[in-house]
Amino acid sequence: METCDVLDRYPIRSVFRKTRKPALFSSSFSPALCRSETRVNKMFILGLGYFGKYFASQLKTRHDGWEVLGTCKSASKKEKLEEMGFNPILFNSNDPESRSLNSLQDVTHLLISIPPIPGLGDPVLCLHQDLLRSKLGNGYLQWLCYLSSTSVYGDCGGALVDEDYPINAMREPAKARLAAEKGWLDLGHDLGVPVNIFRLGGIYGPGRSAVDTIIKQESLSNDQKMRESRHYTARIHVADICQALMASIDIPSSGGIYNVVDDDPAPRAEVFAFARALIEKRWPGQIKESPTPDNVDSIIRKKNTRGEKRVSNNRVKKELGVTLLHPTYHSGLQSIVESMENPFQ
Ligand SMILES: NC(=O)c1ccc[n+]([C@@H]2O[C@H](COP(=O)([O-])OP(=O)(O)OC[C@H]3O[C@@H](n4cnc5c(N)ncnc54)[C@H](OP(=O)(O)O)[C@@H]3O)[C@@H](O)[C@H]2O)c1
Repeated sequence: METCDVLDRYPIRSVFRKTRKPALFSSSFSPALCRSETRVNKMFILGLGYFGKYFASQLKTRHDGWEVLGTCKSASKKEKLEEMGFNPILFNSNDPESRSLNSLQDVTHLLISIPPIPGLGDPVLCLHQDLLRSKLGNGYLQWLCYLSSTSVYGDCGGALVDEDYPINAMREPAKARLAAEKGWLDLGHDLGVPVNIFRLGGIYGPGRSAVDTIIKQESLSNDQKMRESRHYTARIHVADICQALMASIDIPSSGGIYNVVDDDPAPRAEVFAFARALIEKRWPGQIKESPTPDNVDSIIRKKNTRGEKRVSNNRVKKELGVTLLHPTYHSGLQSIVESMENPFQ
């Protein structure tokens, strides 16, 4: 089994807890403080997707004053985000002209919520690294967070996997994810900024859950069908990811790799059965039987090369003091159904 290069190079809690601050932060001088009388926290979210939007809205409800910027790829998305009250900037990593990254120069907090591209790696790091370094290297940045995935662990034969578990990433997406983690850790190290890597289970929440899939009568993607055969599936409610990030912001010296999953890696079929029962209870007789796609059986009978694992969330609870709002899918799905208007009207 391959050991994790990232962990070998960065036994995070020993490196970043003692992290060297950038020169400007090593004294009482802080550019972020000097710009005005009051402290300005400026969050830049690379990727205002499902989580990015949720996080941006939550930051604005905090009482410590946040300016929040974020990116999306298309003009139509930008327009939608503006209508929703966000402050979007157009950024597509493939665009060599990346003037939008100029706004990074006085950010205090940076969240990367853009997935890596297999065969390329992290598109922001691979294509804009020099610009990033020049914009972020002025001492303003104090928090850098990369959203990763529990898929980096690969096949673990059903073992309980914590953040120190040897990595066995065989598939290209997992390798790209690991390389992205390493790239952001390297950048943070060079800038003297603590880096938080959050390895997330499957994200669910309002608008994206088993409940929504059933109500919309969506058929499962091939990837989802493959996951149907698993005994364990790591998942996490969007509100709990948000809690973990907020906790890491509130502990300025934090920095580390954290699994962010709930306490119950239940199989998908069980979750869907529960979601169906919740919908049936609230809106009886409304769910139509979904047709079984012809190839579903052949797909789920294929050997699942991703293997199985149960992911431990002890570290995020112990070190960041996170108490999960939704320790299992039961309360997570229940809260989604309770907050819904009647979708069948
Ligand atoms: N969803 C899950 O279950 C899950 C599980 C584990 C880890 N993660 C990871 O956690 C992060 C957030 O997840 P999410 O579900 O919120 O993702 P998401 O909704 O797909 O959002 C991804 C964001 O990245 C942007 N983006 C994608 N490719 C880009 C590129 N080449 N250049 C510039 N921007 C690009 C998208 O822009 P547009 O909005 O314009 O499309 C979007 O804003 C992602 O890295 C994801 O891979 C997700």
